[in-house]
Amino acid sequence: MAKDKIALLEKVGLFRACSRKELDYIARVTDEVRVEAGRVLAAKDQPGHEFFLILEGTAVVQIDNGINLGPGDFFGEMALLDGGPRLASVVAQTDMDLIVLGHREFSSLIGEVPTISRAIMKVLAQRLREAEAGHTL
Ligand code: CMP
Repeated sequence: MAKDKIALLEKVGLFRACSRKELDYIARVTDEVRVEAGRVLAAKDQPGHEFFLILEGTAVVQIDNGINLGPGDFFGEMALLDGGPRLASVVAQTDMDLIVLGHREFSSLIGEVPTISRAIMKVLAQRLREAEAGHTL
């Protein structure tokens, strides 16, 4: 597996606790993609087929006044986890470098790599907490 891709993945927070073997596996099932500012990466109420992890650039989740996401953040997990539509639109604010996983690769990744499943669950719990706090402000 290309050493530079592994080196890139090692720096991503979501993959920090992964072993070398797990990183090899992640490198095999992920794609790196560059998108331009303004690209709609997820469309509210539409079916979702991809999970995105930000390497460079920023995106905004179009909820309330907008939730900003940057390097190390991920999105698109919800529609893949429960099969429901996208909860919100997510739009690239700048040109972005992303790691993208299709539905099948995402499912196999969370099945094969427990450290990643736990990290995603932790972020989901934090987002629920923040959303709940937002409702009571
Ligand atoms: P999904 O519903 O597949 O597509 C839209 C994405 O926006 C969603 O997955 C999450 O990744 C992200 N998202 C939704 N709500 C929030 C939130 N409150 N905070 C951060 N990200 C969110």
